[in-house]
Amino acid sequence: MILETEQLKIETEDARFNSIYPIHIKKLSERHWTPVEVAKLASDFLVHKPKCKVLDIGSGVGKFCLIGATSTDGRFYGVEQRAELVKLSQRIAETHHINNVEFINSNVTEISFSNFDAFYFYNPFYENIDDSLLIDNKLVLDEKLYFAYTEYVVNQLKQTPVGTRLVTYWSMNLDIPEGFILEFTAYNGKLDFWEKKF
Ligand SMILES: C[S@@+](CC[C@H](N)C(=O)[O-])C[C@H]1O[C@@H](n2cnc3c(N)ncnc32)[C@H](O)[C@@H]1O
Repeated sequence: MILETEQLKIETEDARFNSIYPIHIKKLSERHWTPVEVAKLASDFLVHKPKCKVLDIGSGVGKFCLIGATSTDGRFYGVEQRAELVKLSQRIAETHHINNVEFINSNVTEISFSNFDAFYFYNPFYENIDDSLLIDNKLVLDEKLYFAYTEYVVNQLKQTPVGTRLVTYWSMNLDIPEGFILEFTAYNGKLDFWEKKF
């Protein structure tokens, strides 16, 4: 009974947040955008020092970054390849006067991870290997891109310093580089909290 009430509270909070988005974006939420509770847990862990800079790899409609920016003191950056989603994220941040967030319209392969202290990874390249419930039909998707983008991210993570934090969500196939130690796990292993120790 307690569990059911708690679950209902979580779903209500998520639905309330999603109401800031247009209907076609809301419909994609369950599959593509981080739930509010997950975003809060992840950003609490990622923001581990003053002036901490967190990068969301594939920020979509900005949900993770917007929640992180309003629930912590961190500075959140989202890189997103779809220009329309970036514009929507920027508009929401401006409307709600959320200043500790920035959205970059780019491919992640153009971003150096050396500018950030922590990273959030919600299986962003999966659309290249599973075309059910796509965000849109505007991109050419290709299995080769899944492997190329993943390789880029893994190589960038390898070069980060000790102390770097990483949260992965629904990304059990990601080859986490040596040195990152699993500190906690939640949601039956779907949400993992990592810190680079060596
Ligand atoms: C599963 S959604 C996650 C959105 C957001 N991180 C969240 O949790 O709410 C993944 C996003 O990654 C974006 N993406 C995929 N490949 C990308 C790439 N190579 N560079 C930048 N963004 C990418 C997609 O357009 C999509 O919006």
